[in-house]
Amino acid sequence: MKPLNPHPVTLYRNPRFTPAEAYGADRTSLLSAPAMAQAQAVISAWPGYAPTPLLALPGLARAAGVASIHYKDEAGRFGLGSFKALGGAYAVASLLCRELGQRLGRLVSHDELQSDPVLRQACADITVTCATDGNHGRSVAWGAQMLGCRCVIYIHATVSEGRKQAIARYGAQVVRTSGNYDQAVQQADHDAKAQGWFVISDTSYPGYMDVPRDVMQGYQLMVHEAASALPQWPTHVLVQAGVGGFAAAVCAYFWERHPEQRPVFVVVEPERADCLLQSARAGEVVAVKGDLDTLMAGLACGEVSLLAWQVLASGANAFCTIPDAAAVETMRLLASPQPGDPAIVAGESAVAGLAALLLMAEDPSASANLGLTPDSRVLLFGSEGDTDPTLYQQLVGRSASQVREQGSDA
Ligand SMILES: Cc1ncc(COP(=O)(O)O)c(C=O)c1O
Repeated sequence: MKPLNPHPVTLYRNPRFTPAEAYGADRTSLLSAPAMAQAQAVISAWPGYAPTPLLALPGLARAAGVASIHYKDEAGRFGLGSFKALGGAYAVASLLCRELGQRLGRLVSHDELQSDPVLRQACADITVTCATDGNHGRSVAWGAQMLGCRCVIYIHATVSEGRKQAIARYGAQVVRTSGNYDQAVQQADHDAKAQGWFVISDTSYPGYMDVPRDVMQGYQLMVHEAASALPQWPTHVLVQAGVGGFAAAVCAYFWERHPEQRPVFVVVEPERADCLLQSARAGEVVAVKGDLDTLMAGLACGEVSLLAWQVLASGANAFCTIPDAAAVETMRLLASPQPGDPAIVAGESAVAGLAALLLMAEDPSASANLGLTPDSRVLLFGSEGDTDPTLYQQLVGRSASQVREQGSDA
């Protein structure tokens, strides 16, 4: 039986993908194995750290006609519900080291930041800020609370009350702006300049690279955990994207570690927020206008992160888009698993990679295009759990705890 109903998928093969291209010095200065090891040393010392599970889905693999599917389930990451816990919080820690180092005229290490009471006191005078539609702001607020600095998070008009409270729980001041996400970004920037605060953004733009690079470096710990737990190196990796930082962190990891054995790498976006696919078509970064209307809130981005583009422009084999309806069906599919598979709680922005795989596996020309065969070993990242529990229950028809309980009975 087909796991999903048919839905339209756009698949664009990247003409700039060059299999023999070296990872290269520019990209090494952005994301590298030594910098990943540093992020791992820091993040794994935080309270509550544990690698998230890598789940084998043999039932879905059978249905999709591939050898294996592994799903890295980020729902439990540090109790925050998404992989974003790794990035924003690590960028806050790195910024505090840089800023205090400058003030004191010496290097300040991550260890000292947490153990030295004088440095901790100094952190209390520093304020970090960002605009968010949920997950990134939660991570920044959590990191700020852990490290003892102040935090102001901007959310736009339609961010749910539940998401607002989830951020406020970590002691941040949450400011709701009247406009859309871009206006919240402008407000955060404006207030940061006026007050001497530090913006911790997950996207990069000219003149603003250090912080988003740290964010992406934090994400790579998730990839490292997955790669270390896999029984075999994957042949295919499909990853959902908003500004592209997450996808670039994953792509760069496999490219740098095994340039001769790179998995086929596919970037997946919502059909109405496809800034990466449009940039690939144009051969340069272009913005997508319009209301970016998608249920996949974490992926509703109209502008590509420049650092991410440095990796994805020639590092991704293909870009593809899926409609919201395919994401919702995939959330339900994971909640009511195939025989042999675990029940998985996956939020709206978590499932685009899996949805795209299942849809393309049904399409002989897309499968041939990507080299999907019965021998393929696919790796996916379930980037969030029910980060908006009310919306999750509306879309799936059951709460996360009901899904987990019923799954364990099965
Ligand atoms: C759950 C989830 N998955 C994926 C992404 C995409 O990450 P990026 O914007 O770095 O592409 C986001 C971004 O907020 C997210 O919240």
